[in-house]
Amino acid sequence: MTKSKEVFSKHFLWGAATAAHQVEGGLHNQLTVWEYEHARVLAAQAQYQVGHYDSWDRIQSAAQKPENYVSDQATNHYELYKKDFDLLGKMHMNAFRFSVEWSRIEPTEGAWNPEAIAHYKEYVKELRRRDIEPIMTLFHFSLPAWFADKGGFEKRSNVKYFTRFVEKIVKEIGSDVKYIITINEPEVYALLGYKLAMLPPMKQSIPKMWRVVHNLIYAHKKAAQAIHRMSSRYKVSIAKNSVYIYPGDDAWLSRVSAGIMQYLADDYILARVAKHCDFLGLNYYQSFRVYGYRIHNPETPLSDTDWVMAPADIEFVLERHYKRFKLPIIITENGVADERDEYRKWWITETLKAVQSAMKRGVDVRGYIHWTLTDNFEWMYGRWPRFGLAAVDYKTGKRTLRPSAQWFGRAIKKLRGV
Ligand code: BGC
Repeated sequence: MTKSKEVFSKHFLWGAATAAHQVEGGLHNQLTVWEYEHARVLAAQAQYQVGHYDSWDRIQSAAQKPENYVSDQATNHYELYKKDFDLLGKMHMNAFRFSVEWSRIEPTEGAWNPEAIAHYKEYVKELRRRDIEPIMTLFHFSLPAWFADKGGFEKRSNVKYFTRFVEKIVKEIGSDVKYIITINEPEVYALLGYKLAMLPPMKQSIPKMWRVVHNLIYAHKKAAQAIHRMSSRYKVSIAKNSVYIYPGDDAWLSRVSAGIMQYLADDYILARVAKHCDFLGLNYYQSFRVYGYRIHNPETPLSDTDWVMAPADIEFVLERHYKRFKLPIIITENGVADERDEYRKWWITETLKAVQSAMKRGVDVRGYIHWTLTDNFEWMYGRWPRFGLAAVDYKTGKRTLRPSAQWFGRAIKKLRGV
């Protein structure tokens, strides 16, 4: 039997992820504007939105408070980033995924903020000093308010502003970066903002959602081309939210519906962006079982965000995408909202077993990046979902590695042989 250590080479990237809006604090972007306007309503609607979750008894007091829905200082990662990098070190990690905040770098149209650029320059240098490979995301749901006011990614003619920002930041800090994620989960961003009206601009239009998806596909292509023009040494991808959708029985309808859902959720976008990718960034959280034309999941314990926990299904996702696109894969996000740290160790174990088994069958996986490094601000849910390897005490700012993270750190140490 091959040992785990031999499956995961010494270059394998072991890391954790964050996104600027969810951790930095002190931001002014299209989301912070929206949070101030909607915090009260979101708190008042909490019972209706999440009252049926298994976790409701535990989360209700936080979920019903307006301040839960304002990112405000978040975890103050902007100032405390070195403390957070210490956590990576404690877990023996050699990679870190983060996003740069466009609204800091270009707070008003066409005006670059030298302090913000200097900050991110120092930020990636600090990672390098610690031998941690930076994986930089350029758009992770947050946008400068001026760009959103112009119509954001609903308008194709706005893509040029994004490309200009990409060129600027890569020119400024690119020398310390190799892996670049242009766009995080284009379809999730389009779905939440343009179809489900759960995030700004809160529209409910299927044609608009698809328009945004297509403009983001185009934005990826433009950004990837601009980055590659600067240097061919950059490795570029999107981070694609990847679900595993499978028929629950052999009925024709279940098989056809699962196939169509899987195509629309994953393949449609990947088929269009993959030709402009050097690797595939895949985020995996959930799988869906289909009976007839409906989703009907198995009765398993649910995470705090009420998601079915099927970590081992990542194996099917990896195999399917590798077979089709033949690109090396980095798992750019994977994790579970689990405040009590009941499932995280099991989740990671099952995931790594599945990754290993896919790799043994030839799938070229180059890294595993856990979501998230610390607890953070979870978009329209606010602060109560706890995805962090490290717990954050929002009153004191104190970070504490959860027991599962301490275990994970020991496992990484062994696997890396460090
Ligand atoms: C997003 C993250 C988010 C995570 C958990 C992904 O869809 O990229 O920003 O926090 O899932 O919901």
